[in-house]
Amino acid sequence: SSAKLIDQHGRRKRKLRISLTDRCNFRCRYCMPEQPQWLPKSQILTIEEIAQFARLMVLDGITHIRLTGGEPLLRRGLVDCIEALTALRPLGLQRISMTSNASLLAPRAATLRAAGLDDLNISLDSVDAATFRHMTGRELAPVIDGIDAARAAGLPVKLNSVLLRDDNGDQIVELVDWARARGLPLRFIEYMPLDAPGRWQRQQVISEAEILDALRVRHTVTAVPRGHDPATRYRVGDDYEIGIISTVSNPFCASCDRLRITATGDFYTCLFSATGTPMRELLRSGIGDDAMLDKIRDAVWHKDRGYAARQGPVERPVTMHAMGG
Ligand code: GTP
Ligand code: 5AD
Ligand code: SF4
Repeated sequence: SSAKLIDQHGRRKRKLRISLTDRCNFRCRYCMPEQPQWLPKSQILTIEEIAQFARLMVLDGITHIRLTGGEPLLRRGLVDCIEALTALRPLGLQRISMTSNASLLAPRAATLRAAGLDDLNISLDSVDAATFRHMTGRELAPVIDGIDAARAAGLPVKLNSVLLRDDNGDQIVELVDWARARGLPLRFIEYMPLDAPGRWQRQQVISEAEILDALRVRHTVTAVPRGHDPATRYRVGDDYEIGIISTVSNPFCASCDRLRITATGDFYTCLFSATGTPMRELLRSGIGDDAMLDKIRDAVWHKDRGYAARQGPVERPVTMHAMGG
């Protein structure tokens, strides 16, 4: 298929993140308000509407789709959704991924694999039960079970740890050693200003430079060439690599290849955009493919430079949990 999804800064789009629900069974404080207001079901895209949108995006050059939430395992129809996306592979879709907290994963991992899911990113901010409970409001053990079940089902897993100075900021080496012992790839994520308004504090961010300093106390650390994900890569010791997603200290916007659509069908060309392009009513109006594609391409073309050009919190009511990260 030909690539039509190019923005005014010359960046071609290959990845689409689809948020399946704003609901989450966790309460990570860096991600959602204390009293989240869940969206009404009438505003949530149906699986058919998601599949219709995804098909156009794949025809226009999207090769990777990542399912997000909230927590995507809470979405009824998740398996139908993966199957509908699997049907798009002949049109050019290469990978179907998901980002999850994994607490509800264990009984379902094999089914998701069979439906066509290729891999999983799992959020794991601490391997200490008390710290984990403090950061997420929930228990660690079901998450570990979920990670084990995914691997047993043949689903490749990558771990994501968001670092907050006062919570898990002193657990960098512990997380690396834990992940390395299990042969699991790990990426640290700088805390981004996308949580409840007024909450983010720059002093809570542990920067890429600080992460490297902490690791160098125990390990040799050397930079390795960047892969295709948003992380900078480093070799730690002889036989292990980590990634660092340093949006705050070193944004990767210049090579950004991502687009996202929220559960309500708002199409965001950047994680930090103040507003999205509403697509739900268009999808429901029975708009033709060509008119819909015009709308999509126009929004993509106007994608701005991103976080690299702004710095500081975004003033908008939509927090991470409703954006899908
Ligand atoms: P792959 O690149 O496919 O491995 O996945 P990913 O890292 O994009 O996805 P994941 O859901 O695991 O996200 C990890 C972290 O990267 C989260 O904190 C996301 O919010 C962040 N992230 C994902 N996409 C973007 C992006 O386009 N811009 C920025 N600044 N951060 C992003
Ligand atoms: N800053 C950085 N990462 C965040 N995530 C959620 N909120 C934030 C934030 N404020 C991460 C989650 C998950 C991914 C989808 O986004 O931990 O791994
Ligand atoms: Fe892409 Fe925006 Fe993220 Fe920069 S901040 S990498 S432009 S989504």
